[in-house]
Amino acid sequence: MAHRIAIIAGDGIGTEVMPEGIRALEATAKRFNIELEFTTFEFGSCDYYLEHGKMLPDDWFEQLKGFDALFYGAVGWPDKVPDHISLWGSLLQFRRQFDQYINLRPCKLMPGIKSPLAGREPGDIDFYVVRENTEGEYSSVGGKMFEGTDREVVIQDTVMTRTGVDRVLKYAFELAQTRPRKKLTSATKSNGISITMPYWDERVVEMAKGYPEIAVDKFHIDILTANFVLHPDWFDVVVGSNLFGDILSDLGPACTGTIGIAPSANINPEGHFPSLFEPVHGSAPDIAGKGIANPIGQIWSGAMMLEHLGYKEAGDALVSAIEEVLSAGDSQVLTRDVGGQGTTESLGKAIADAITR
Ligand code: NAD
Ligand code: IPM
Ligand code: MN
Repeated sequence: MAHRIAIIAGDGIGTEVMPEGIRALEATAKRFNIELEFTTFEFGSCDYYLEHGKMLPDDWFEQLKGFDALFYGAVGWPDKVPDHISLWGSLLQFRRQFDQYINLRPCKLMPGIKSPLAGREPGDIDFYVVRENTEGEYSSVGGKMFEGTDREVVIQDTVMTRTGVDRVLKYAFELAQTRPRKKLTSATKSNGISITMPYWDERVVEMAKGYPEIAVDKFHIDILTANFVLHPDWFDVVVGSNLFGDILSDLGPACTGTIGIAPSANINPEGHFPSLFEPVHGSAPDIAGKGIANPIGQIWSGAMMLEHLGYKEAGDALVSAIEEVLSAGDSQVLTRDVGGQGTTESLGKAIADAITR
């Protein structure tokens, strides 16, 4: 039976990398005899907002809930729609309403890519950021008072629930169990943020009791960012709150040469709702329209989607195809962020060809 995939390309380079994501998925599906059925939606973009006054139609949940997965490009075009409106009106709604409480973001130095960190080789950087994805600092609790006066106050509370913290920690510990090094690092800031972050730490200690084979450490987020740069080889599975996970999942890929290759899976592990697969990067207005965006973040997200749908071998083969093309190092094929002069299309096509061979 065909797997139904909803396609939402979004804005900017989202619309440029998406066709390459689909090309790679189609090539992989063909090789592994997987039936994928794509349905494209125009909503979830700033142009849709300009036409309709909202990012999504009122019945978006009904329209999307029956899909097996959502494949998203990137959203946001601040010159057209303020970011908090476009993002809270689309992506953040999907994550919350579809209870995609895990944001899984692999971070791996790929062959053929030069790390900006001196002396780092593939193998030195290979970890996962597990980001809490539905609560924490991304909360809708708060407000503005005395607006427009010099007594103006703005408040946005961080929300941590026992269920919310425990379920992301459990996922991270279970992921660490599958890894050879069996190591988990918790991102915290319990020296300065004195209620929520000590709570996070307590839940880590409690959860760790159930996983005695996992080596657990924790760092405050400030020194953790420094250690990502100085000692990326220390990390295996890094778990953090919504905001810390967000920051670490741009910094990690930057250490691997470019954020253009970084994928992510927004997962509802119970499968009650569709999960969403998208690159870590945004719509990149600075390079949009030039055809030079790196499509690997989108393609690798597609590989994660295949694995999520039960096709691990196919997902692995697609990641191998990415590695093969990067290793080959053809500057006519590779995009500029990884040292080439190629285009989104040349790189996408090369990966689709590699999977077909
Ligand atoms: P960004 O990720 O769009 O871009 C940051 C920098 O990285 C830019 O210089 C860009 O050119 C470069 N870059 C990003 N993706 C690349 C790729 N595939 N290939 C080559 N270079 C790439 O982040 P930003 O500039 O902070 O945000 C731009 C817009 O995207 C904003 O509206 C923001 O809110 C939105 N955004 C959306 C998502 C998402 O949809 N998940 C994620 C991040 C940012
Ligand atoms: C990401 C993005 C989003 C986030 C923004 C665009 C709301 O940065 O997916 O990492 O903060 O989660
Ligand atoms: Mn981010």
